[in-house]
Amino acid sequence: MCGIVGYVGDRPAAETLFRGLRRLEYRGYDSAGIAVHEGERISVLKRKGNLDQLEPYLGWFPRRGGTGVAHTRWATHGLPSKENAHPHLDCGEEIAVVHNGIIENFQELREELLSRGHRFRSQTDTEVVVHLVEENYRGDLLEAVRLALRSVHGAYALVFMSVREPGVLVGARRDSPLLLGLGEGENFLASATLAFLEFTRRAVALENDELVRVTKEDWELVTTEGKRLERSPYQVPFDVTSVEKGGFADYMLKEIYEQPQAWQDTLRGRLSRSGVLRIEELEEDHFDLKRIRRIIFVSCGTSYHASLLGRYVMENWMDIPVEVDISSEFFYREPRLDPECLVVAVSQSGETADTMSAVRWAKNCGAPTLSVVNVVGSMMARESDGVLYTHAGPEIGVAATKTFLAQIAAIYLLGLYLGQERGLLEPEFIRHTYERLEALSSRIEEVLQDTEMVERCAEKYCRCEDFLFLGRNINYPLAMEAALKLKEISYIHAEGYPAGEMKHGPIALLHPGFPVVALIPRDGVYGKMRSNVEEVKARQAPIIAVATRGDSEIRECCDETIYVPEVEPHFNPVVIAPAMQLFAYYVAKMRGCNVDQPRNLAKTVTVE
Ligand code: F6R
Repeated sequence: MCGIVGYVGDRPAAETLFRGLRRLEYRGYDSAGIAVHEGERISVLKRKGNLDQLEPYLGWFPRRGGTGVAHTRWATHGLPSKENAHPHLDCGEEIAVVHNGIIENFQELREELLSRGHRFRSQTDTEVVVHLVEENYRGDLLEAVRLALRSVHGAYALVFMSVREPGVLVGARRDSPLLLGLGEGENFLASATLAFLEFTRRAVALENDELVRVTKEDWELVTTEGKRLERSPYQVPFDVTSVEKGGFADYMLKEIYEQPQAWQDTLRGRLSRSGVLRIEELEEDHFDLKRIRRIIFVSCGTSYHASLLGRYVMENWMDIPVEVDISSEFFYREPRLDPECLVVAVSQSGETADTMSAVRWAKNCGAPTLSVVNVVGSMMARESDGVLYTHAGPEIGVAATKTFLAQIAAIYLLGLYLGQERGLLEPEFIRHTYERLEALSSRIEEVLQDTEMVERCAEKYCRCEDFLFLGRNINYPLAMEAALKLKEISYIHAEGYPAGEMKHGPIALLHPGFPVVALIPRDGVYGKMRSNVEEVKARQAPIIAVATRGDSEIRECCDETIYVPEVEPHFNPVVIAPAMQLFAYYVAKMRGCNVDQPRNLAKTVTVE
């Protein structure tokens, strides 16, 4: 959470920083600020609220090149307010800092600093760091930061500048992302490459416990021990056009409509001419897939729902037990891990702190780790033993949509691959299934073209304050995902339940103002779902069925029916997901909500 940017170069600094912040706003938007080095001083502008509150005041800064740092915040310590917004300055107002992460021992440090005469202006954990740097400053900012960080515990990506060293930025990271963007006569530091993508695609990712000193022409990377490091830049694999809205009203809607492409791109090129499935990323030495006796998925939120779906697929195709853990709960049950247990981390961002901790814990136990990640070069991708990338492209809308579908594609692929490598699936089955998977892209397209019923249902029920989503078998995780989408962008209370479980409690909630969405495609549990629909009907709750096109029987017993194309039963989630995302989207829009930036949320959750 929180987005940070640093700039050094000849462009108007404040404007360039602000453009970077705009791209990072998905990471937090409760307050924002910019600091620019001007002559002998640092000028700071801060506002409570999102970037729109800051923009009218940008004219305060001169339109010339220089050095600056900027921040968009998602509060952890201290309320969202102007005072708590970053950048923060030291007592002498000569050093500025922006921070993403949490300084865990800030209370202790703050008391020590207060006793040594420092004055604090905010309630944040961050401010202690700039005071520590002030104490350690002897004419070399990099060295001062390095010394200061010795007493800091916690997670951080930090960018500093000092009036005493014009044209210099210093960055440092531990457990929060920090990327260096290398331009021509200008350089950037930022939480994500998106912040500098319109200026350069050459990037360097900092690793844990590394610091960097950046000028407009040069950069120098060192460890916290002061050892110099060499690292080659890489090319960011997408350009700035992929992060524009492209004519859509919102990023979320654009991303929903990008799903056929995301689906195809994630599957593309995996089947060789001879019919063998190839996932080069998993062919390296550290994976002996035949030795694996157990799989554990770890993930959060939407990625957790994709993982739950993975359990149905894998257990169906393979001979090994599959478990799924919410990352933040993983430790508590103390699962016994060993080299025969494959831990699969599923994460769009590849930076989620809870999932990162689960990966590290698994590694410490000697279990091989594989991450299914969308952001190339992210921390999880780098720290896991192997990575299977989803190719959804950048996702800006805070609610995950296209990355969810891409995760499902990757998980089907992984299931087939493991089945192949373990000799459990016939080559003909693999080829056939892969081709069926590829063909699903057109079915997703069909759902996106036929939105009339979805919109009608949204209009009819958008004022209801409670929803229940029911599904069975592989559609049960989809019921949970549909409920999550609705609640996070429209603030309606919604629950996703296994349909068979309804009679064990939730049925007590039903009444004529409490709509139930039944995911009831034609599959092996259709009959059982039908009985559940009857149970709902008997309690007079309105029923919206999401059913297979051509099923006229279901229409008779439900209030509304949203049809999805007919696909093989274990692929139903792929066509149901876009319909449910659109439903949540329309409901939220009809209620006047900001779908791209729902309240209290942030796209990348880098705190535990
Ligand atoms: C919901 C959503 C979140 C994320 C969760 C995990 O729409 O986006 O629930 O799925 O925060 O994030 P990643 O996938 O980045 O680990």
